[in-house]
Amino acid sequence: MPRLDEFISTALFRVAQEALTNIARHASARTVTLDLSGYGTTIRLRIRDDGTGFDTHAAARADAFGLTGMGERMLQLGGTLSIESKPGKGTEIVAELRLPAPEDVRATNPDA
Ligand SMILES: Nc1ncnc2c1ncn2[C@@H]1O[C@H](COP(=O)(O)OP(=O)(O)OP(=O)(O)O)[C@@H](O)[C@H]1O
Ligand SMILES: [Mg+2]
Repeated sequence: MPRLDEFISTALFRVAQEALTNIARHASARTVTLDLSGYGTTIRLRIRDDGTGFDTHAAARADAFGLTGMGERMLQLGGTLSIESKPGKGTEIVAELRLPAPEDVRATNPDA
């Protein structure tokens, strides 16, 4: 797996942190799986749980920022975030990003 640009690694870390916090707070899950994989120039982070799930179409509470914040972070980096969940069926969150070309990484990070 290539070394990741710090914006990308920070964004993925925040997604993992929020997803795991949500699982601890809301899901009552028995099993949680987190995997990070790279294929070609794409990197993918997936977090699944087998907890209560929730209705992704229901209006979000006005004071809930976790899921929207995750989506905005991914969008800013040109990536995508998908959330699949149904009441009683657990939740799967997938964040996907294209890695910048190596020249672009060097341009933003002289140590790369
Ligand atoms: N893994 C999950 N399992 C079950 N329900 C979830 C899960 N993740 C999120 N939810 C539901 O989606 C809602 C919105 O999540 P979000 O992270 O946006 O807000 P929050 O966790 O309630 O508050 P905040 O993250 O702003 O502190 C949660 O209140 C919860 O009902
Ligand atoms: Mg949250």
